Amino acid sequence: MRLDKFLAESAIGRRKIVRTYIKKGLVKVNGNVITEPAVDINEHSDIIEYLNEKVIHKGKVYYMFNKPAGCITATKDNVHKTVFDYFDKNMSGVFHVGRLDKDTEGLLLFTNDGEFEHKVMYPEKHVDKTYFFWALGCLSEENKRQLEEGVYIGQGKILTKPAKIDIYKSGVYKEFKDEIPIDDLENKDCQPVISGYLTISEGQKHQVKRMLKAVGCYVIYLKRISIGDLMLDESLEKGNYRNLTEAEIKKIFK
Ligand code: URA
Repeated sequence: MRLDKFLAESAIGRRKIVRTYIKKGLVKVNGNVITEPAVDINEHSDIIEYLNEKVIHKGKVYYMFNKPAGCITATKDNVHKTVFDYFDKNMSGVFHVGRLDKDTEGLLLFTNDGEFEHKVMYPEKHVDKTYFFWALGCLSEENKRQLEEGVYIGQGKILTKPAKIDIYKSGVYKEFKDEIPIDDLENKDCQPVISGYLTISEGQKHQVKRMLKAVGCYVIYLKRISIGDLMLDESLEKGNYRNLTEAEIKKIFK
């Protein structure tokens, strides 16, 4: 196994970072400083040290997290709670796979496997992500067709890839106020509302909100419910996480 891979899988840091540690001479293999990240090591018999401490190989880790609203998807923040504040274990070298907005809930994955992140996130890999939403507004058949074929977001600069839209409920706010998971909206009783599922295979910033805005809808609640065929485990309470099983990892890529 490559030395940089070994360190990344041992909670030392992401691949890019551990390469800089290796180049700076902070890593030893069997007592010798090695400055070449690609060097091949034997993870069972070689002794690897970082800052003169023996490194224990942790292996690849994969977590499913049920993100609550109100925390940001980042490693550190001076003001807000971050997703990492919900983990009670050493997460060094582990990162979130993509991002959810502060007010978005639901399925967020964590790993120390860069290749896995790449496969989940890159649009060319076509891993679908499905979001459940409530929005103010309504969607005509024409709007649905537009969402499915692609709409312009980002001041008309980005044409979204084909998506899938399924409407769950539509009507006026007062009909559904008990099921809309947000604080009461003032004076909105006769406001048209719509809920549904939007499936996309890209991850542009605020993509779902911007796509729905492009067809005149304003998202008031958003939750990611699946990635590929992997569904959020609804028995996982908000703010909790657990390991993914091998079968679940396979489901992501179908
Ligand atoms: N699209 C959004 O608008 N927000 C998210 O958090 C995820 C997808």
